[in-house]
Amino acid sequence: MQNYIEPVVLIYKIDFAIPENIYLSFLNKIRDDKREKIKRFKFRQDALRSLSGEALLRYALQKYYDVEYKKEIIEENEFGKPYLINKQISFNISHSGNWSALVCFENDAGIDIEKLEEPPYEIMKKTFTQKEIEQIENKDQQVKERQFYKIWTLKESYIKMIGQGLSLPLDSFSIDITDKNKITVDDSNRQSTDVQLKLFSPDAEHIAAVCLRNYDKKISPEFVNLNDLLF
Ligand SMILES: CC(C)(COP(=O)(O)OP(=O)(O)OC[C@H]1O[C@@H](n2cnc3c(N)ncnc32)[C@H](O)[C@@H]1OP(=O)(O)O)[C@@H](O)C(=O)NCCC(=O)NCCS
Repeated sequence: MQNYIEPVVLIYKIDFAIPENIYLSFLNKIRDDKREKIKRFKFRQDALRSLSGEALLRYALQKYYDVEYKKEIIEENEFGKPYLINKQISFNISHSGNWSALVCFENDAGIDIEKLEEPPYEIMKKTFTQKEIEQIENKDQQVKERQFYKIWTLKESYIKMIGQGLSLPLDSFSIDITDKNKITVDDSNRQSTDVQLKLFSPDAEHIAAVCLRNYDKKISPEFVNLNDLLF
């Protein structure tokens, strides 16, 4: 493995119109359990989202870490989070709307991407802390929507870094985006002062958050295209 200390953040705009032979050749390159899961999707778009996330992982392992992607090296924890068996690096995948995203890092990492839609504000009372709600309410509509999705994606990226799914109650920790240069998480149940959270937008309709343990520098998401993934 190369000594790759910087986190690798990759983002791919999903080509929903790929020819059938390319779709099938991608399917044949991925681990069996994932392939079977993807084949069960009712809609091709959902299958392509999941498939492109796995294709990004395959690409990143080879390009940045010189690790051959094969089914034997990946397992999922009891909450469904995939990880490398030898834990050389951690990785996390997300997909939404037109995009798939991946983070790889030497420490714990989580990523979330969301398509910006009419925010389901009604979930806030159950899922956001009072401090988070205060950062969303009483704002102009556009700012309010943006704040909602920033906090949503950041919360998801944190949950996904921890990897215990929704067994970690969404209101058991609180995100503070008051200082956009120093986003923080307050989690009284676990160590969170060493956690860094970053936001980025691949386009005007999507927002993404990356959560990393022990990394306080800038992240530089790299756009990947279909040709990169075809090997
Ligand atoms: C499953 C969950 C981890 C993420 O779900 P999601 O946002 O729908 O999906 P994303 O596209 O971001 O991530 C999916 C990928 O995460 C990975 N993943 C699966 N389980 C995971 C877990 N427990 N922890 C971290 N990553 C996980 C997989 O690679 C998965 O890819 P796949 O779907 O192709 O198999 C979970 O956190 C969840 O259900 N969240 C929804 C919670 C919610 O209601 N949030 C609202 C406000 S914060």
